[in-house]
Amino acid sequence: MRDDRSEALRDWYGRQARALPWRIPPGSDAMPDPYRIWLSEVMLQQTTVAAVKAYFATFTTTWPTVHDLAAADDAAVMAAWAGLGYYARARNLLKCARAVVADHDGVFPRTEADLLTLHGIGPYTAAAIAAIAFQSRAVVVDGNVERVMTRLGAIETPLPGAKPEIRALADTLTPDTRPGDHAQAVMDLGATICTPKSPACVLCPLRDHCDGRKAGIAESLPRKAPK
Ligand code: ADE
Repeated sequence: MRDDRSEALRDWYGRQARALPWRIPPGSDAMPDPYRIWLSEVMLQQTTVAAVKAYFATFTTTWPTVHDLAAADDAAVMAAWAGLGYYARARNLLKCARAVVADHDGVFPRTEADLLTLHGIGPYTAAAIAAIAFQSRAVVVDGNVERVMTRLGAIETPLPGAKPEIRALADTLTPDTRPGDHAQAVMDLGATICTPKSPACVLCPLRDHCDGRKAGIAESLPRKAPK
């Protein structure tokens, strides 16, 4: 269904998408390499884009395909990961690469359900890979998306209780065409404009649609339940 907010976001992404080493430019018909999308999403799980770039370059140069990574020496992979932190991710990376080669003929599965069976792939990463690598209409929700959605919809319910409302709004906004570009547009918006502190609402492509901004509460969202 057509949604003014999705269209505004798509137009903005067409103009302002960050050029990232794993990214296919908006509107391009080139096919992303699922291996590179998976690798980037795992690296980005708890790490910033700026920190990930150099590691992504090293990994894709040293192990250009999932077959190369599956055959890699464990110690070499752990050494290449050093500095990125959360080392369980590197161990899961190897397990996942080996399972893709052993159980899936070296081809990443395309559905969220099948992706979820692989080590180190949780609901966010499964949805991101399905949308970005395979153009499935997956609803991609991470912390950045939660922030953008709670502000856009002025969702004042504290987290985690707000999750169903957030997912419903994210679902409404997800288009049938180019859902991968849409997912990345929301991520870029959350990283560059709809930031946790001092969001740059004057630059935001959704400013005229944002209920949080209209109510003057955008920066205070999302609310968190007291611990
Ligand atoms: N953060 C997590 N995944 C991302 C992506 N594909 N693009 C930009 N930021 C991200």
